Order: sequence, then structure tokens, then C-alpha cells
Amino acid sequence: MGYQTLYDRSLRDPAGFWAEAAELIDWDRPWDRVLDDSNPPFYRWFKGARLNTCYNAIDRHVRAGRGDQPALIHDSPVTGTKAVITYAELQDQVARFAGALRSLGVAKGDRVILYMPMVPEAVIAMLGCARIGAIHSVVFGGFSARELATRIDDAKPRVMVAGSCGIEPNRIVPYKPLLDSAIDQAAHKPEHCVILQRPQEPGVLIEGRDLNWSQAMAEAEPADCVSVEATDPLYILYTSGTTGQPKGVVRDHGGHAVAMVWSLRHVYGMAPGEVFWAASDVGWVVGHSYIVYAPLLLGCTTVVYEGKPVGTPDAGAFWRVIQEHQVAVLFTAPTAFRAIKREDPRAELLKRYDLGRFRALFLAGERCDPDTLEWAQRILGVPVIDHWWQTETGWAIAANCLGIEPLPVKPGSPTRAVPGYDVRVLDDAGEPVKPGDIGRLMLKLPLPPGCLTTLWGNDARFVQSYLSTQPGYYLTGDAGYMDEDGYIFVMSRIDDIINVAGHRLSTGGIEAVLASHPDVAECAVIGAADQLKGELPLGLVVLKSGVKRDPQTLIQELVDLVRDQIGPVAAFKTVVIVERLPKTRSGKILRGTMKAIADGKDYKLPATIDDPAILGEIQQALEAIGYAKPR
Ligand code: COA
Ligand code: AMP
Repeated sequence: MGYQTLYDRSLRDPAGFWAEAAELIDWDRPWDRVLDDSNPPFYRWFKGARLNTCYNAIDRHVRAGRGDQPALIHDSPVTGTKAVITYAELQDQVARFAGALRSLGVAKGDRVILYMPMVPEAVIAMLGCARIGAIHSVVFGGFSARELATRIDDAKPRVMVAGSCGIEPNRIVPYKPLLDSAIDQAAHKPEHCVILQRPQEPGVLIEGRDLNWSQAMAEAEPADCVSVEATDPLYILYTSGTTGQPKGVVRDHGGHAVAMVWSLRHVYGMAPGEVFWAASDVGWVVGHSYIVYAPLLLGCTTVVYEGKPVGTPDAGAFWRVIQEHQVAVLFTAPTAFRAIKREDPRAELLKRYDLGRFRALFLAGERCDPDTLEWAQRILGVPVIDHWWQTETGWAIAANCLGIEPLPVKPGSPTRAVPGYDVRVLDDAGEPVKPGDIGRLMLKLPLPPGCLTTLWGNDARFVQSYLSTQPGYYLTGDAGYMDEDGYIFVMSRIDDIINVAGHRLSTGGIEAVLASHPDVAECAVIGAADQLKGELPLGLVVLKSGVKRDPQTLIQELVDLVRDQIGPVAAFKTVVIVERLPKTRSGKILRGTMKAIADGKDYKLPATIDDPAILGEIQQALEAIGYAKPR
């Protein structure tokens, strides 16, 4: 069936469409209703059904004879190790870990927070939670103790699972002290921590509270899969909101499992037994969906890569992994390809490798610039697919669906809406705009299975953040347009979210940290264009009157403060001290205009600007630090 037929059917008859897709999952009990639309704007998929996600991801494959197939390949250039875990071995380890959690009192519905590097144990811990119906929440290792503490207080986990350290190419990041500090800072105190002791930097265990992973595993009684409701939560994943308080995106079991297998087949064109590699991190949604759940639910082999696209050891790292593990499809962020291109523009290193089985490259997480797309197409000679999605949806909203029918590529566009997503471009009044005109990218409800069902413990914030702008529609937070052929172009965010190396950050969150410095009167953070990372946060601060400080020392304090309070992942390195910030007459800081200045772009003088002379001062200050090409 062609793309258009399938797409039309998915919108005309969502219940029929997704019921058919649900045949890819083993259910303990069938649903009463495919789509429960009795309580809008809350929609629930597969109401009444029961299943276990871990059973579907592991046990059923072992039963079907895939026990000896590699389920997971760990490739870690930063430690110089590689390991292969078969489905049978994974079943054994996950069952043991689930048993260990149970012996610590973790039961269905309890939360478990994971703070782990890219090691198989991260996957084992996630699946171990799913096995007993506990709800995991993975926090990316590049976040600070304070960010971890915020998540602890929101999710209120019974148990934490952490690696003793993460390994970056240039340093070891001791996670254990960060974990201890986070628990100190949090009001909620988890009962236990299970610590994976890594030889590079073991952590100091606190008696009575902390357990060693290997000992816990050795003593554990394997636990069986617990049947849960399709609508029960599988995980919480925190993502940047427009305030310092992150949003806990909740994903359910049933809809998620269906969306994962369906999308891996139809969007990525994968088949059971093939090797899929998402070069991301388990701390991000890409990691949840396409390192862990989708490949295992479909019976593929997944690669867990603990390294970077460059520097571990060189810009040929991705080609080596593809060759060595016979990867069929790679998924990464455009930044990774920009990094490779910068180091090896003629792709000389690629000539050393045979990418025999490699079929396609998928890019997402940030806007894919046509240069990077075309370079990747040229050097790889396989389809390069830009696709658009977000933490909240959990899988692609728009893509060129290789598993359905490849459509012609238009560089700069993630192609057309994926079956299940009714994408509309609306103006501020909620009216559809003409093809080619920019508006808010919105999704008509109901969202397909696998998308967020709410924000953890906060239905009201879920409705207010996503569903209240235009009743009946979900607000993606992105602005863009659709052309005459239905191709979607995602141009920018309409909120204060910026995208740094495919990582999502709130400039408001960084501003709150800068404003907490005793010498800062007011500040603004903008996402300035960066050739490698897409955007980088740039801080502009006004000092309190009378403050006389050495500027370099103060700037370093501010950089350190953001690193300490948000984490290295913010990549916050640039601050400029200015006399005043440009504002509207009503006092709103003109961040968009400052971004245009920083990026050297033309801008219209805002009609409501209070004092246009300030823009000249900002131009000068930014030029002095290498931004804002002189005009
Ligand atoms: N634990 C602790 N610290 C971490 C970390 C982790 N898991 N991951 C990153 N960091 C740190 C880095 O060490 C770096 O710290 P530094 O300021 O001391 O150098 C900082 O966070 C920023 O990291 P990163 O964004 O990875 O930048 P980089 O300069 O080290 O590497 C790239 C640049 C392009 C190679 C890298 O951004 C990359 O691989 N991008 C691919 C994009 C991607 O995977 N996106 C995920 C979403 S799909
Ligand atoms: P995250 O939730 O971290 O995955 O970030 C999601 C956001 O990244 C989206 O809302 C977009 O702003 C941006 N994004 C993701 N993929 C794309 C893409 N293919 N093109 C443009 N922007 C993208």
C-alpha cells in the first residue's frame, strides 16, 4: 500500500488502523476499546487491554527461537571494550535486575530514577522496571546534581540506579558524588541506590542505603513479567519546559509498544534480525525509543555506543561501527554529521570501511541544514532522511517513510506527516494558513498511540502547555509551513527552547540561574547560531549599579554557575556584559532582535521598541566577542 492510501486511512479510521498495527504486539488481554475518546482532551489507546512491555521486548523473542541472536551490542571506544548480549542473556539479566528491584520493595507503579552512562546496564535497568510494572525515569548524565534533584522531587522514586561514573573523551565524570549531592538537595529521599561500580572511578557507597549492582544481581531471584494495563505508565522522561521546572512526559505501555514496532518497520524500514543503531544516549527520547524499546520490541539487534562521532578516536568512528556490527540503519543528530564533516570534509576515512549492509541514515533532533544533508547523501550513497519529532511525541511526526514508500526528498523538509499525525499549520487566531505561509505547527487530536498521555502528576500543566492554545489541537511549539505538496518545513520554536547539538534547553532556565548571581541585575539568554552545534546559548547580563568587578572573573563565575546548576550539557560558555538590554515600551526584552543581531541577520526595528539606540550598543558588544558581523 502506498504512502497516501495508508496515511488517509490512518486519519479516516484511526481505530481500525491502530488495531491492525497492534497485532505486532502480544497482549495478555485484548482491549475493550481501541481509542477511548470519552474524556477529551485526554485520549487513551487500547483501554482495557493488558500486556507486559518487557515480555514483548525480550521473552517472546526467546520463546520464538531468537535466544541466541544478539539483542544488544555494547561498543565503547572510551573504555576500549565491546560486548555482545544475546536475547537469552538479556532475559536472564533483566529478570535478575527486576528481582533485585523487587527485593528492595519496588512494586508496580513505583518510580525508579536512572542516572547512567551508555552501558548495557542502563538498558537492563529500564527493562527491569518495565518487567515489574515500575515506572522508570532516566536522567541524562550531563545534567547537574540540582537538575537531578528537581527530578527526584517530582518523580519521588523509591530507588535510584546509577553508574559510578561516566566517561567523556577528555575526562571521567564521577556520577556518584553528583547523585549523593542531588539526594542531599532533594526533599524526597529515595530508600536505596543501586550503584554500578565502574573500574575507572568506583563510588563510595553509603551503608544501609547503597548497594553494589553486581552483588544485588548475584543475590537476586529472577522476577517474572507482571501484566499491566495498556494505559499504565511505562516511563517518565523529563524535558525542558519554558520555566526552570522540567516537564515529566508520561508514556504508557500499550500505545507505546504499538507505535514503537510499527514505526521501526514503516518509518525506518527495519525487519526483525537486522541491526539498528541510534547514536544517541539513553537519557534522551531517541535513546528510549530507538536504542531500547523499538529495536527490541521488533526483534532487532541494537547498538549501545559509548563514544562520540569524532575524537574516539577519529572521524571514522561511525563507519567502523557500521562495518563491524553490520548496521542496516543509523539514526543520529545532524550535529554528529557536521562534526564528522568538519574533521574529514572529503570523507577520506570512509574509504577504509565497507558499509556493505548499510541502507539508510536518519537524522533528527534539530533542523537539518541542506548542506549537511547533501554531504551525507554524497558520501554515503544511501537515502538520508530528515525526520521531525520531539520528546512529547516519542516518534516521528513527519518523515520520509522508507518502510512504506520513499517519496522524493526536498532538502530542508522532513517530508510529509507520518500516518497517524494530522499536522496543521494555523495562525494566531487558529485559522489554517495558505501553503507556504508560516504558522504554528499543530497536531489535530487525537494524537496517535505512543505520544505523551500527560505530564507526571500534572494534568493541568499538560492541558495548559499543549492543548489550550487551540482547542482540539496539540501545540508542538514549532513554527513552520507546509508547501503545496504537503511537505512540512520546520523553521523555529515559538517559545524559549533552543536546540544545542540536538539537545533541548530552555533559555529561561539558564536566565534564572544567571539572575541568581548576586551581581546580576537582569539578563537575557539567546540561542546564537553555531556552525557545529546548530545553536549555542549566549548570555547578555546587566550588572547591578555600583558593582565593580573584573569582567573576566565575573564571566567565569557565571559560566561555572550554569555548569553547576544545569550541567555541562548546556554548553554555556559565552557571556557578555552590557549596560542595558533592549526592551519594548511595556518592558519585554527583545530577545529575537538580539538573536538576529548576533547571527548577523537583517531585522526589522520593532515598532514598540523603547530606545533603539540600545541595539547599537548590543551590536558593538557582540562584535567584540566575535558575533554579529558588522553592518
Ligand atoms: N555525562 C557527562 N557529561 C557529558 C555527557 C554525559 N553523558 N555528555 C556530554 N557531556 C558533557 C561533555 O563532556 C561536554 O563537556 P565540556 O563542556 O567539559 O566539554 C558538554 O557536556 C557538552 O557535550 P556535547 O554536546 O557532547 O559536546 P562536545 O563538544 O563534547 O561534542 C559533538 C560535540 C558534536 C561531538 C557532540 O555534541 C555529539 O556527538 N553530538 C551528537 C548529537 C547527539 O547525539 N544528540 C542526541 C540527540 S539525538
Ligand atoms: P527534543 O524533544 O529534544 O527531541 O526536541 C524536539 C525539538 O527539536 C522539536 O520540537 C524541534 O524544535 C526540533 N527538531 C527535532 N527534529 C527536527 C527536524 N527534523 N527539523 C527541525 N527541527 C527539529
